[in-house]
Amino acid sequence: MKKAITVVTGGHGGMGKAICKELGKTSTVVLAGRNLAKMETAKAELDELGVESYLCKTDIADAAQVQALASYSSSLGAVTQVIHTSGVSPSDTVTESIIRINAVGTVNMVETFYPILAEGGVMINFSSVAAYTMPQVDEWTQVFEAWNDPDFYDRMLALAGKAGDEEEEFFRAGLAYAISKRFVIYFTQKNVARFAQKHCRILSISPGCYLTPMHQKLIDNQPETAENQLELIPAGRWGHPYEMGALTAFLCSAGAGYVNGVDILADGGQNAGIFVPQI
Ligand SMILES: NC(=O)c1ccc[n+]([C@@H]2O[C@H](COP(=O)([O-])OP(=O)(O)OC[C@H]3O[C@@H](n4cnc5c(N)ncnc54)[C@H](OP(=O)(O)O)[C@@H]3O)[C@@H](O)[C@H]2O)c1
Repeated sequence: MKKAITVVTGGHGGMGKAICKELGKTSTVVLAGRNLAKMETAKAELDELGVESYLCKTDIADAAQVQALASYSSSLGAVTQVIHTSGVSPSDTVTESIIRINAVGTVNMVETFYPILAEGGVMINFSSVAAYTMPQVDEWTQVFEAWNDPDFYDRMLALAGKAGDEEEEFFRAGLAYAISKRFVIYFTQKNVARFAQKHCRILSISPGCYLTPMHQKLIDNQPETAENQLELIPAGRWGHPYEMGALTAFLCSAGAGYVNGVDILADGGQNAGIFVPQI
């Protein structure tokens, strides 16, 4: 029998590594990301735990590199799980990269892995609680529907508005993040029927604030924003990456076999606390 392979983009990241540890109990994991040194450090940790892992240097914004990741992964065994955690936020980078990596990168991942995902497999894309901060207006939907057009990136970028001074750029990057993560949910849901045709599931997870390198950057660079955020979380704490590992493993399991085409908002109650008047 062929080995079961789990591909984890962002495999050395806060949530990605926790997911590798969990899904590595029952499958061989392939970590994908741009920073090979960080992936090697994560691999050493996984080795200690007895998890069989492989590394593939990949920029998900580059379709050819995603194709190489898919070919490499399927050469190792049957790709049964694809956990696409790679993403960037305004704490990491600029508006252009947010759109390129979060939106175009997700199209690359879904389009490339759809044909190779083994029958009965699962793909999970990472969105964000930020996707819930604004309603999806028609203008966004029209652009989302153009996901396969050559000007998709330009049109997505235009939704975030024109580049401006530092303050304007701060809001533009935040809007780009919310739009790109809304797109992740929409594009995931747009793929449910075709994945189901090959007896596969596709869904997304929207994390709230988990204590990972990404969130740590926000805490370090904007401590007041982070403190205000914490006050808005009914759970009264940040999420632990291991909780995301456990949630992802459950969503991949047979017990979650009827959970399909939905976004799982795992945010410590943050969204409900903000948008629904509390008792
Ligand atoms: N932490 C939170 O509170 C939070 C909240 C909401 C949503 N999320 C979302 O959850 C996901 C995981 O977040 P995290 O906190 O675990 O982030 P993290 O620790 O910063 O890890 C992000 C990972 O993404 C990878 N990545 C970034 N750009 C890439 C690219 N172009 N190609 C391939 N890999 C790339 C990074 O690897 P390389 O640098 O090696 O490429 C890194 O491993 C992200 O999609 C994020 O937007 C996180």
